Amino acid sequence: MSYPEVRLRRLRKTQKLRNMVRETTLTTNDLIYPLFVKEGISKKKNITSMPGQSQWPVGEVAAQAEEVASLGIPAMMLFGIPETKDETATSAYNEDGITQEAVRAIKDALGDELVVIADICLCEYMSHGHCGLVEGGKILNDPTLELIQKTATSLAEAGVDMVAPSGMMDGQVGAIREALDTQGFRDVLIMAYSSKMASNFYGPFREAAESAPSFGDRRGYQLDFANPREALRESLFDLEEGADILMVKPALAYLDIISNVKDAFGLPTAAYNVSGEYSMVKAAAQNGWINERQLVLEILIAIKRAGADMILTYSAKDAAKWLKE
Ligand code: PBG
Repeated sequence: MSYPEVRLRRLRKTQKLRNMVRETTLTTNDLIYPLFVKEGISKKKNITSMPGQSQWPVGEVAAQAEEVASLGIPAMMLFGIPETKDETATSAYNEDGITQEAVRAIKDALGDELVVIADICLCEYMSHGHCGLVEGGKILNDPTLELIQKTATSLAEAGVDMVAPSGMMDGQVGAIREALDTQGFRDVLIMAYSSKMASNFYGPFREAAESAPSFGDRRGYQLDFANPREALRESLFDLEEGADILMVKPALAYLDIISNVKDAFGLPTAAYNVSGEYSMVKAAAQNGWINERQLVLEILIAIKRAGADMILTYSAKDAAKWLKE
């Protein structure tokens, strides 16, 4: 049977009917809120390239975490911006490093009321802004793994629930798992930035995290955004090395990758709705060209529809409020 007996519009007649047949749902449980913590400031600093987002002093991080938890958002992802950067990312694995302090502050205030995730890329801590050790203009892989291991274990000592390696060094997930396990942190999870593209959508983030590379770019370690098969290989390796969660990043231009990764491995799958995606929506909204609320919810549903189980998004607090109304 088909038209005129079958009429699909019958299913769309009222909001209640539409609610009954909705195939994809979005809840606050799906959201993760990223937060920037900056060493050596006493007041928050707004990030011009990301309207509505700020760099926070460590003293205010617990209050931020409480707000996030009270909205029903289960997790936060921390990015630390240290006062001193050097060529070995010392501040990344310093016991009193900014991210370590932020983790302690949140855990002291909230315990298990919030899942605390730390991004453990080194670029914010390196004077040259690259994600690994540099020698003669080259980014070294294996020597960098040791620094990533130290960073992961020092954050585990501070009480972090989950680490998220985003440096795209080969073997990083396995190296972290081994370091965590041998030092008694078997319960700390790994969210692997597996399909992390060398993307132009990270532009606004590099102002927020003060992590733009001082020479060259990241194409020697991040994935070519034209390569869906290579993204599956990266994800497979991360799975075999012990990743608990696979991530695809960015999200909106990579819905096919999210769908592939979810279908191929069935692991919990995260998608990172990155800074450029956020700032484009903000800019259009500020010009009155789109309805921000409706568009953000549409984007988040699209990312879930593609197969994401969780979404890292700077819109998490707004979305949580909108979902409650
Ligand atoms: C660190 C890192 C980046 C992002 C998350 N972790 C930037 C980059 O790789 O240059 C991007 C996040 C965003 O754009 O919102 N390597």
